[in-house]
Amino acid sequence: MSRNHWRKFTARFWKLVGGVSVRTKIFGIVLGSTLMLSLGFTLQVHHALRSVLEQKAQEQGISITRDIAARSTDLILINDLYSIHQLLVETQANFSDVRYAFIVDPQGQVLAHTFSAGFPTDLIEANTAAGMDYQNTTLVQTDEGQVWDVAVPIFGGKAGTARVGISDQSMRQTLTTLTTQLGLTILVVLAGSLLAASLLTWVLTRPILELVEVTRSVARGDFSARVQRWADDEIGDLAEAFNQMIIELGRLDVVRQEREALRKQLLEGMITVQEEERRRISRELHDSTSQSLTSLMIGLRNVSDVCSKPAVDEQIKLLRKEVSTTLDEVHTLAVQLRPVILDDLGLKAALERSVAEWGKRHKIAVDVFVHLGSTRLPDYMKTALYRIIQEALTNIAKHAHAESVSVLVERQKGGLVAVIEDDGQGFEVDNEFDSMHLGLLSMKERAELLDGTLVVESSSGYGTSIYVSIPIASKNGVDNGR
Ligand SMILES: Nc1ncnc2c1ncn2[C@@H]1O[C@H](COP(=O)(O)OP(=O)(O)O)[C@@H](O)[C@H]1O
Ligand SMILES: [Mg+2]
Repeated sequence: MSRNHWRKFTARFWKLVGGVSVRTKIFGIVLGSTLMLSLGFTLQVHHALRSVLEQKAQEQGISITRDIAARSTDLILINDLYSIHQLLVETQANFSDVRYAFIVDPQGQVLAHTFSAGFPTDLIEANTAAGMDYQNTTLVQTDEGQVWDVAVPIFGGKAGTARVGISDQSMRQTLTTLTTQLGLTILVVLAGSLLAASLLTWVLTRPILELVEVTRSVARGDFSARVQRWADDEIGDLAEAFNQMIIELGRLDVVRQEREALRKQLLEGMITVQEEERRRISRELHDSTSQSLTSLMIGLRNVSDVCSKPAVDEQIKLLRKEVSTTLDEVHTLAVQLRPVILDDLGLKAALERSVAEWGKRHKIAVDVFVHLGSTRLPDYMKTALYRIIQEALTNIAKHAHAESVSVLVERQKGGLVAVIEDDGQGFEVDNEFDSMHLGLLSMKERAELLDGTLVVESSSGYGTSIYVSIPIASKNGVDNGR
């Protein structure tokens, strides 16, 4: 077998063995080894018995034939053919295995025989004791099957030869009976060992199946399940170690959950405080600073109205221009900090306006599509989404070198979906943001605080897409009044 064939064969073997349950494996081992053992044993016993029985049959044949030879010597010498015949018939009657008996004289003439339907003459040639001083045994084929033919010289061969045919039928019968008994015994043993095997597999596999069951529930996050210790063996030790591990895992999970909750709480608090502060500063800029600047503009106009000196007029014009620019900047700053319309008109209007303004400011073509239906979103959700989009646009302006951008916000079945796409240079991203990606990290955290997800898809040269999905379940829902 070539290497390749061998490899294929072993692969198939392991696939077969690996594909069946432990129960089947143990059954296979027990059944296979018991069968092999009993088969070997039976064959061995059969073989040994057969040779012993064969030898015994031959020995019996020889002793019968010698007896005939001894007892017929005198009868041959006085030529008492009737008594010789009698002797042969009696012998056959006494030993059921004797198939035939006859005596030939030295010239090869049959003196007496036990064949009732005529003597088969070719039998004479089948065996001979000529030149032997003891006996000769050969196997001859007769109409009734195999027969051991024993030839014993009478009176050293001078008075002829006694021949007896001994059948091995009774020997075969004995052998068959013994083998059958052995076979039955093996069947009983086999049944017993199968029973023992099934008991053993049950004992072995029950704790393992339980381990599997408990492992599954641990994987589902249920740390309360325990494995029962069935026995004081290795599997019992495993069960105990396993339980210890679950307890430890459960403890760690509690710690993890507490930490996670704390982190979420802190982050939420931070974001709220930050938003509040931004809102306050934005209002301040909008209401007070802008108002003051506007008053300043009006004041300057009034001054230029009353004073007609061209030099002063020129100066006032410059000042008014400066104040106007500052007013614009303050407005942009206020909107960036917190667009008042987000609170006043809602997410759709605020997004549409600020995205359009962003496009104008950076000279980038931008499509914005906001479709929220009739859903009224909670404030914190609006803010989060607005900030995520704001940060994404800031990144595009800073890093992407994009020509066109599209922003899509849509209410879908499970919640809100936002997609921000640009056709810029893109970057290598693995969505595990670290301190090198604080902006992206903060976007992701905002989404995750609302049990949502944020995925960035980008590769160098192919633009960037950011997918945000926020569920509207009861927690984030509009109906819990948060
Ligand atoms: N739209 C984008 N196009 C190209 N590169 C981007 C884009 N967004 C983010 N990046 C890359 O990801 C990095 C991390 O972004 P961010 O976390 O916002 O940090 P920062 O903007 O302070 O650099 C950026 O430095 C930039 O290289
Ligand atoms: Mg950034």
